[in-house]
Amino acid sequence: MAALRSSSRLLATASRSAFKPAVLTRSMATVGDATNQAEPKNSTVSKMKKFQIYRWNPDQPTEKPKMQTYELDLNKTGPMVLDALVRIKNEIDPTLTFRRSCREGICGSCAMNINGTNTLACLCRIPTDTAEMKVYPLPHTYVVKDLVPDLTHFYKQYKSIKPYLQRDTPSPDGKEYRQSKADRRKLDGLYECILCACCSTSCPSYWWNQEEYLGPAILLQSYRWIIDSRDERLSERKAALDNSMSLYRCHTILNCTRTCPKGLNPGLAIAEIKKEMAF
Ligand code: SF4
Ligand code: SF4
Ligand code: FES
Repeated sequence: MAALRSSSRLLATASRSAFKPAVLTRSMATVGDATNQAEPKNSTVSKMKKFQIYRWNPDQPTEKPKMQTYELDLNKTGPMVLDALVRIKNEIDPTLTFRRSCREGICGSCAMNINGTNTLACLCRIPTDTAEMKVYPLPHTYVVKDLVPDLTHFYKQYKSIKPYLQRDTPSPDGKEYRQSKADRRKLDGLYECILCACCSTSCPSYWWNQEEYLGPAILLQSYRWIIDSRDERLSERKAALDNSMSLYRCHTILNCTRTCPKGLNPGLAIAEIKKEMAF
C-alpha cells in the first residue's frame, strides 16, 4: 500500500494521543438485560464465553432494545466473531439478525460495533482474555433489526459524488483509458475501500451532521476520483465539495483512520482534498 497507507501509519502514530475511543455514546434507547444460556457446559475442556448482543425487533416497536446474552463453547466455535454469530443463529436463536456475505473482509456487510470498536465481524478474532463481550450495530445509525443498520442515506451520499469515471476525450486507440504506473499508484490506499461505513459511523462530526456532511468513507471515495488521472471532471467534483458542510465538517479527530478494518486512512484523504481545494 503506497502513499496513503504508509502515511496512514505515520499519521496514526503521530496523532495517537488525540484519538478518542471509536464509540462513546449511542443514539439507541436504553437497553435492558435478558439471558439465554443454550449451550450446556461441557466437562473440563469447555471454554465458555458470553456474547451480549443488541436486539431490537421492528415488529415489536413498543418494546425497547435490549441486550441478550448467549453462551458458546469456544472450542466448538470458529475463531472470528462472525463464526460465533453464525453459530448462535444456526444452533441457538434463528431470530438473531445480521448481515454477512463474503466472510473474508471484502463485501463490508458484517460491519458492527464489537467491544466498542467499529469493525468487520469476519475479520475480528473473538477475544479470549475476557469471559464476555458486547456486540452492537454500527453507532448512530437507524437500526433495521438487531445488528443490521440502515445505510440508505450512506449509499445516497455515495451516489451523490458520482463514483465513476467521467470524461469526454476518447482514448487514442479507442480501447482502454490508460494511465502511467505512477498515476495508478496514486489510487493505492483508496481503491481498497469496501464501503463498510465503519469509519463514517465512528466520526463525531458525521454523528451530528450526517444530513449534510459526507463523512470519511464518502470523502475517501471522492478523493479516489479526484486524483484519477483519467477523469476529466476535477473542477465539478471540487465545486460540489466547496461549501461549509460537505467537506469542512471534518475536524481531524481521526477516529476514522483509527477504526478502518482495511487499514486505510480516510483522514489523510480528507486532508488531501482540502489541499486540492486550496490550490
Ligand atoms: S475507509 Fe475503511 S472503514 Fe471507511 S468505508 Fe472504507 S473500508 Fe470501511
Ligand atoms: S478525521 Fe474527520 S472524518 Fe475522520 S473522524 Fe475525524 S472528523 Fe471524522
Ligand atoms: S462478511 Fe464480508 S466483510 Fe465480513
